[in-house]
Amino acid sequence: MTSQLESLRRHSVIVADTGDIDAIARFRPQDATTNPSLILKAAQDPRYARIVQAAVSAAGPRSGPGWSEAVMEQLFVGFGREILALVPGRVSTEVDARFSFDTTATERKARRFIELYEAAGIPRERVLVKVAATWEGVRAAERLERDGIHCNLTLLFSFAQAVACADAGVTLISPFVGRIYDWHRKARGVEDIAAADDPGVASVTRIYEYYKKFGYETQVMGASFRKTTQILDLAGCDLLTISPDLLAKLASTEGDVPRRLTPESAAASDASHIALDEEAFRWMHNEDAMATDKLADGIRAFHADSLKLARLIEDTWD
Ligand code: E4P
Repeated sequence: MTSQLESLRRHSVIVADTGDIDAIARFRPQDATTNPSLILKAAQDPRYARIVQAAVSAAGPRSGPGWSEAVMEQLFVGFGREILALVPGRVSTEVDARFSFDTTATERKARRFIELYEAAGIPRERVLVKVAATWEGVRAAERLERDGIHCNLTLLFSFAQAVACADAGVTLISPFVGRIYDWHRKARGVEDIAAADDPGVASVTRIYEYYKKFGYETQVMGASFRKTTQILDLAGCDLLTISPDLLAKLASTEGDVPRRLTPESAAASDASHIALDEEAFRWMHNEDAMATDKLADGIRAFHADSLKLARLIEDTWD
């Protein structure tokens, strides 16, 4: 009997959602994703103090207000480089959430990450720049993709965000499951929602069906999972990014995982095509109370963790 993890690998590309390099070595994912909260956690781990120290050294002498930002760039790329030594595929490196409503600043930061990766001998094909799926973020990604800089549009909660990303031709989206589940659990005042009735699972399924039915090439990577049933119910999704604790559960549970999402079931779905300009995007997204809450909250939380990381860097230098 094979494990659920091995069985799942037959249907979806497995991605590790972590900055924990040892965990990545353990689970042999194809790709890995990071975000400011995951890098903050890893940067506080004594096993990875050398990466923090190297980032501080690489940023040069401490001078001016741009210094800690320069260290952060080195740190994000430093973790990315170590991860790329272990995975055969790509790493996702996230742009600071404070640029979420600034197309130009998002683009500039993305290009800076690529410059640092390429200076280290890593081709841009191995990097996904992670950008919040706001209207401004989608526009930045559209421009970056034209220059061969591949983007992963994150903090994706609404169908409007998914449609805008596909129309912009971004490489990949990360629709969140767990945070949608969290919101609905709280709104309903319940402890759990069964996977069959899970609005997070339903959101990814709807997006997958829409993309496949209408021939979009943007890859769908289910993200933000709270339990293995949410992952198993999305078997067949292009990619699934999974935290080390859930990877461990899947690896230690035996069982055959049937494929749930298929291009055939997508083609047979009742999805109809929609066109979105900026006004329609903003209206449709705003009509979704969960998505507006979770996008705003996600931007605040990632930015708060970036500030904590900046303080950690200052302390390291001291
Ligand atoms: C991945 O792209 C996301 O950053 C991650 O899955 C978020 O997961 P969380 O909701 O557990 O923070």
